[in-house]
Amino acid sequence: MRFKAVIFDLDGVICHTDQYHYQAWKQIADQENVFFDEQVNNRLRGVSRMESLEIILEQADRPYTEEEKSVLAETKNEIYKKLLKNMTRADLTEEVKGVLDNIKNSGIKVAIGSSSRNTKLILSRIGLADYFHTVSDGTNIQRSKPDPEVFLKAAEALKLAPEECLVVEDAQAGIIAAHRGGFHSAGIGEASKFHLTEYPLSCMGDLLNVFE
Ligand code: G6P
Ligand code: MG
Repeated sequence: MRFKAVIFDLDGVICHTDQYHYQAWKQIADQENVFFDEQVNNRLRGVSRMESLEIILEQADRPYTEEEKSVLAETKNEIYKKLLKNMTRADLTEEVKGVLDNIKNSGIKVAIGSSSRNTKLILSRIGLADYFHTVSDGTNIQRSKPDPEVFLKAAEALKLAPEECLVVEDAQAGIIAAHRGGFHSAGIGEASKFHLTEYPLSCMGDLLNVFE
């Protein structure tokens, strides 16, 4: 087998929490009268909460103090967490669960590599709390994607070299992180059109073809 582990991003790969991030940031942007659309949102994929806010505020017509920024980031997270309460096991699609089970049952390690500090909450809501061999997330890193730290921590926990691992991402920042860290990469959604993506996927089911 070519890869000994698959490291999955969470938001936009395992589940569609990327939509909830969008809705929560949209409320903040509207409240502040700041322009925000899908294109700006795509730049937030894989990027930490505070760095996401900085990107949104690039469109603002005035500077914000550090204190104002931390209030906005906190408010966004409260809105986001309220939206997460709607999530259940039904938000894990049959397709994604099937792909995960197939990979895990063939003896390949499965891991999470996400910048989100809400990773464990989300995994428990969709019934995957104890599913992965390791979970590397926003709570154990200093630098978010495109820095490879989150994936390097996952590989280290699995005792594998980056080149033995395949990273699955929906974010350009995540694909750059994988590339910089020496990992192989598969990209879905926005990341499927990115030139650094080794294996473009049109759906998660496509991931199984990478292993044939
Ligand atoms: C993921 C998402 C980003 C989000 C980041 C932090 O990487 O793709 O859009 O900003 O996590 O999420 P958090 O739940 O910690 O605010
Ligand atoms: Mg993502």
